[in-house]
Amino acid sequence: MTGPGPTSEELRDALAEAASWVSGYLETVSERPVLAQVEPGEIAARLPRIAPDGGEPLESIMADIDALILPGITHWNHPAFFAYFGITGSGPGIVGELIASALNVNAMLWRTSPAATELEQRTLAWVLDLLGLPAGWFGEITDTASTSTMYGLACAREAAGLDIRTRGMAGRADLPPLRAYASAEAHSSVDKACITLGIGLDGLTKIATDGDLRMRPDLLAEAVEADLAAGVRPLAVVATVGTTSTTSIDPVPEIADICARHGLWLHVDAAYGGAAGLVEATRPLLAGCERADSLVFNPHKWLFTPVDCSLLYTSRPDVLREVFALVPFYLTTDESDVLNLMDYGLALGRRFRALKLWMVIRAYGRDGLAELVSGHIALAQRLAEAVAAEPGWELMASVPLSTVCFRSHPDGVDDEPELERLNAALVDRINHSGTALVSHTKVNGRFAIRIAIGNAASRWEHVERTWDALRAS
Ligand SMILES: Cc1ncc(COP(=O)(O)O)c(C=O)c1O
Repeated sequence: MTGPGPTSEELRDALAEAASWVSGYLETVSERPVLAQVEPGEIAARLPRIAPDGGEPLESIMADIDALILPGITHWNHPAFFAYFGITGSGPGIVGELIASALNVNAMLWRTSPAATELEQRTLAWVLDLLGLPAGWFGEITDTASTSTMYGLACAREAAGLDIRTRGMAGRADLPPLRAYASAEAHSSVDKACITLGIGLDGLTKIATDGDLRMRPDLLAEAVEADLAAGVRPLAVVATVGTTSTTSIDPVPEIADICARHGLWLHVDAAYGGAAGLVEATRPLLAGCERADSLVFNPHKWLFTPVDCSLLYTSRPDVLREVFALVPFYLTTDESDVLNLMDYGLALGRRFRALKLWMVIRAYGRDGLAELVSGHIALAQRLAEAVAAEPGWELMASVPLSTVCFRSHPDGVDDEPELERLNAALVDRINHSGTALVSHTKVNGRFAIRIAIGNAASRWEHVERTWDALRAS
């Protein structure tokens, strides 16, 4: 008599089946429509309203993955997934996720799984070296860049010495209005961090950008000085290396000078652009990042690691610890001189995310990772050249990395709303065709089609097919 749940034989069979399902899926994903071809509610309507009373065989649950779930999947692992940021759940990363699930450790304390804490530290030091960032930084894995940036700004608030950790913010006459700064192109996660931390949306000043959509340091300096004169307390600047829309690169060295002059925390959002550090030719784009107080880079964006995996680095881990360390009695331990990662974040429990990242880095190696990233950059440059050479089409922004913003601009059509309608229709058509998934953005207020290349299986044929389809429709 066994208890509820599958027997070990059934589990072995299901794991073998899952392994062949995964490799089969990865081999054939390019034959599927990229965008899920379902209507809202269609998947939910096929699912029972109530959970089963009795356990069901894994075999029949697996069959339902094909029948019920796959039709509602948008295939992020498709080589023609070019929307948002193209990403890769690579084979080694998938194996790492599987094994991490089997181990199911919770690395809140060093002792609750020493290997998880120590592997995380070593792997994050590897990434610093891979990207050419300072060797001594402390790093930890979070779920997303949104969390990492919130932590960075929480550090800035703590470092200001306003005793907010203890006294909070409400009802304090001694507290000046707080201010953070980011470019007008910064990701919305910066706004959300300000909402979360009580800085408020009014406390975030968006600095205008230059012709290349990079933060203007002269305007930043003016804003900080005006705020200081008005009794506002500047806390932090978020510089972006690889903005979401066009992957523009803020001038970090100049921004770092302003931060140094006024004692402001410098957080760098390199969630996507950090991968530029892997490639010799693009590593200079990270200039100045070594002066950051904190920096986020997402391996789940452009380092072939399955979602989720975001790296938060800081040169001032003591401040991060001051923000979050709080040890209830049941979590006290005898070990001194160990790193308890729960002291460096909001969540107590922590997944063993380092395992998949470690497997990815080992399986590809420094050279393999650099080859993939530089291959994506080369594909984007080739597309940009094709667009620039095509009559009736125009590039909307420069292409420092692997993302291209462009639009159809037929001769004689100069009305912006008309151009927006025309290009939005192109995006809609290609996405619904299932051939590829592209996204849209606004560049200087103008609608643009956006292709971001980041999948390890993407080749010129996928980019070319997408470009051909856009031109033909
Ligand atoms: C530059 C940048 N920063 C932050 C984020 C937020 O990333 P996450 O989904 O990991 O919170 C994004 C998302 O695309 C991004 O492009």
